[in-house]
Amino acid sequence: MAPKGLFIAVEGGDGTGKTGAVGFLARSLSAKGAEVVATREPGGTEEGLALRKLLVSKTSLNWEPMSELLLITAARVQHVRATIGPALASGKVVVCDRFVGSTLAYQGAGRGIPEATICALHEMAVGDIWPDLTIVIDADPALAIERSRKRLQAASLQENRFEELDLAFHARVRQGFREQAMRKPGYVLIDGDRRELVVQQDVLHAATTAVERWELKRDPLKRSPRQA
Ligand SMILES: Nc1ncnc2c1ncn2[C@@H]1O[C@H](COP(=O)(O)OP(=O)(O)O)[C@@H](O)[C@H]1O
Ligand SMILES: [Mg+2]
Repeated sequence: MAPKGLFIAVEGGDGTGKTGAVGFLARSLSAKGAEVVATREPGGTEEGLALRKLLVSKTSLNWEPMSELLLITAARVQHVRATIGPALASGKVVVCDRFVGSTLAYQGAGRGIPEATICALHEMAVGDIWPDLTIVIDADPALAIERSRKRLQAASLQENRFEELDLAFHARVRQGFREQAMRKPGYVLIDGDRRELVVQQDVLHAATTAVERWELKRDPLKRSPRQA
């Protein structure tokens, strides 16, 4: 049987701390000896980056929800084929900054596309690849978006399209993430309205539990060095 990796997605609204948490997770899990591939949507490949530019540049472009879903899914096809699929096939731990949970929250709860449509398109496009663990960082959108805006201004990035959508939209997105976490298996919801380091410790705890379970399943006879 081909070795199978572990797929962890980190999800949440803009500015909730996903990118910081993914970096922290990658460093911490690598330090514990795991082979980690950290990546992000929708820019995980050059083709994905090109598509991402279409979506997030501050322009007068006004995408229909379905067009947005198709562009994001196109980027995901590239990302899964080039990065996520091969890493999982070679038994690595993949930590991904946003995945299908973001599509369900933004294009689903936020923009009204039915969940069944998003899931069917996902399966058609990338096949049966779903995260083993989805960590949702849940935070007040008003505070989180303000943080995200400050960071973008500091870096002089012109990526305002998603941030500029109104707070009602972001409240729906937050609710979309919370509902996924309540309804779907393999989700952990983390209170992101606390200090960043405290939030990251909780993210690491959730991931470590999943890694340990996965290692045990993969190699039931494996002993830690102390037990050997
Ligand atoms: N819990 C928190 N409290 C205060 N600041 C935070 C917290 N989480 C993240 N930040 C800060 O907010 C900004 C955006 O964080 P980032 O990890 O890029 O979020 P995301 O990737 O979810 O948009 C960064 O400057 C980060 O240090
Ligand atoms: Mg980010």
